[in-house]
Amino acid sequence: MSRDLILQGISKTYANGVTAVQGIDLTLRAGEFVCLVGESGCGKSTLLRMIGGLEPATQGSITSDGQAVTGPGLDRGMVFQDHRLFPWLTVEENIAFGCGESLSPTDKQRSVEEHLELIGLQSFRKAYPHQLSGGMKQRTSLARALAAKPQVLLMDEPFGALDALTRIHLQQELLKLWQKEKITVLLVTHDIDEAVFLADRIAVMTPRLGTFRQVLDVPLARPRNRNEEGFIGLRKTLYDQFF
Ligand SMILES: Nc1ncnc2c1ncn2[C@@H]1O[C@H](COP(=O)(O)OP(=O)(O)OP(=O)(O)O)[C@@H](O)[C@H]1O
Ligand SMILES: [Mg+2]
Repeated sequence: MSRDLILQGISKTYANGVTAVQGIDLTLRAGEFVCLVGESGCGKSTLLRMIGGLEPATQGSITSDGQAVTGPGLDRGMVFQDHRLFPWLTVEENIAFGCGESLSPTDKQRSVEEHLELIGLQSFRKAYPHQLSGGMKQRTSLARALAAKPQVLLMDEPFGALDALTRIHLQQELLKLWQKEKITVLLVTHDIDEAVFLADRIAVMTPRLGTFRQVLDVPLARPRNRNEEGFIGLRKTLYDQFF
C-alpha cells in the first residue's frame, strides 16, 4: 500500500459560486517536504483544509496512506498561522492533548517529555500560552501536532506572524524535526525565500484559477545557504513568476 498522499482531480467550489481550487493533481511522496506558494486568495488554505479533512472537495479524491480522506485524522496533523493553543492549558498539557486518548498515562508522559525536548521548551512546561513569545507558541503548536505521530504535517503559513529572525530560527528547527521524524510536510507560505530554503519541491499556484502553474524541484543540498548562487538563481526564477 502506498504511504504517499495522493490528490487526484481536486476541485472546490464554495456555496457562493467561488471556485477556489480546480483540477489539482499532486502526489506527496512519503517523507517529502513540499511548499505551496501563491498570491493571496489563490486557494492555498482551501487546498490544505481539504487535505486535512476539514472541508470536503467538490470533485476528486484524496488518499492518505492508502485510505480515502473523508474527515480529519491522526495521520494528518495541522499547524496554522495563529497557534490555536488552548489558553487554559499549560505547554505540557497542550502537548498531552495532542497525544490523543489511546496512550497509557506513562506513555503519554513519555511522549510529552520527548516533544518538550524536541522543541526545547522543557523549562516552560508549566507556562500558559499568554506567557510565551510568538515563536514559543508556534513551537508548542508544532509539538502538539507532532505528538499525535502524524505521517503528514500540514502547515498553513506557520511562521507568517513572526519576526524575520525568529522565522529563520524556526525554519532551521523545522528542518531538523522533519529529518528526525521522517514525516511528509506540506507547508503553505507567501515567502519565496522560505520555500527555497525548506522544500524538496515547490508547487506554485496560479492567481484566481486555483490550479498549479508549476511544480519545481529544488535541487539544492542541505543545509542550504541563502547567499549561494543556486539558491539566488532559484529565488529569482520564482520571483519572476510573480512580479
Ligand atoms: N468559506 C468560504 N466560502 C466562500 N469562499 C471562500 C471560503 N473560503 C475561501 N473562499 C474563497 O476561496 C478563494 C481562495 O481562498 P483561500 O483562503 O484558499 O486562499 P489563500 O491562497 O489561502 O489566500 P491567503 O494567502 O490570503 O491566505 C478566495 O477567493 C476566497 O475568497
Ligand atoms: Mg490562506
